[in-house]
Amino acid sequence: MATVSDSKPESAGSAIARLTQIFANAGIDNAPLDARLITAAALGVAPDNLRLHPDAQLDGAALSTLDHMAQQRTTARMPVSRILGRREFWSLDFSLSPATLDPRPDSETLVETALGLLADRDQPWRLLDLGAGTGCLLLALLSELPGATGVGVDIDAGAIETASSNAAALGLQDRSAFRVADWTAGLDGRFDLIVSNPPYIPGAEIDTLAPEVARHDPRGALDGGADGLDAYRAIAPLLAPRLSLNGSAVLEIGAGQAAAVASLMNKADLLVDPPVADLAGRDRCLVCRPG
Ligand SMILES: C[S@@+](CC[C@H](N)C(=O)[O-])C[C@H]1O[C@@H](n2cnc3c(N)ncnc32)[C@H](O)[C@@H]1O
Repeated sequence: MATVSDSKPESAGSAIARLTQIFANAGIDNAPLDARLITAAALGVAPDNLRLHPDAQLDGAALSTLDHMAQQRTTARMPVSRILGRREFWSLDFSLSPATLDPRPDSETLVETALGLLADRDQPWRLLDLGAGTGCLLLALLSELPGATGVGVDIDAGAIETASSNAAALGLQDRSAFRVADWTAGLDGRFDLIVSNPPYIPGAEIDTLAPEVARHDPRGALDGGADGLDAYRAIAPLLAPRLSLNGSAVLEIGAGQAAAVASLMNKADLLVDPPVADLAGRDRCLVCRPG
C-alpha cells in the first residue's frame, strides 16, 4: 500500500479523501465512513467534529497514527471498531478485546425484544446472559431497568475480564456479576429473563466470511459446529430449569435457523413465539417460555 503520510501537515478533509480512495481501492465497504472515523481518531476528536472543522491539521505524529491505522484496515482487514478497541451498542460505549465478539447492531433487536417482555421497568428483574462477550446485551438491559440485577457468563476468561471492565466503566458493576462458566454450570436460582447470542455459524463457513469477521472475531464466538446448532443443543435443556414461572429466554439465531432452533427448544419443553425480525427484515431472535 502506498504510504498515507508524508512529513508535511495535512488537513482532515484531504486525509479523509485520500483514505477513502485507498480503502475503496482495497475493496472495503463504507470507505468514506471508515476514512472519517480513522482520521478523527488520529486527530483525537469526535467524528462529527470533522464536519465542522475539515481544515483541522494533522501533524507528523497524527499522520503516523493515521498511517498505522490505515495499514491495519487495509492489510490486516481489521474493522475500525477493533482498531479503535471500542464499539457503540445501544448508545453505550463498549471496550473490545481479542477475546470478545465485536457486538453487532442487529443484536440490539434482542435488547428491544427483551425490554418489551419486561414492561414494568422498575421491577427487581433477575437477568442472565449466556455467552456474554463484551457484556453488551446484559449491560444494555441493566441500563434500561434500574431495579434489575444480572449475571453474565462466558467460557472465555478474557471476555469475562472485558465484560467486567465494561460494567465498571458504565457504572453498572453493583448490579452485574460476570463469571467464567460453561453455560449455566455452577449457577443457582431462576431468572426472569435469559438472553443469549450463542455461536451459530457452521464451522466450515467461517473462513468464507468477510476477513473482518473471519480473522478478527474469536472463533469460539462464531463456531456453532457442523450445522451451526451445537450451542442451541447445549443450551436448550438448561433454560427451563433456570427460568422463573413467567420467565422468558430471548435467543439470537442465524440466517435460516428459526425452525431448527424452535424445534430444539420445543423438545426441551419450551414454547416458542414466531421469530422476531431485525430492522433488515431478517429473523433475528426467538422468544421461548416454559411450556
Ligand atoms: C456470538 S458471541 C456473543 C457475545 C455477546 N453476547 C454479543 O452479543 O456480542 C458468543 C459468546 O459465547 C461464548 N461461549 C461459547 N461457548 C460457550 C460456553 N460453552 N459457555 C459459555 N459461553 C460460551 C463465546 O466465548 C462468546 O463470547
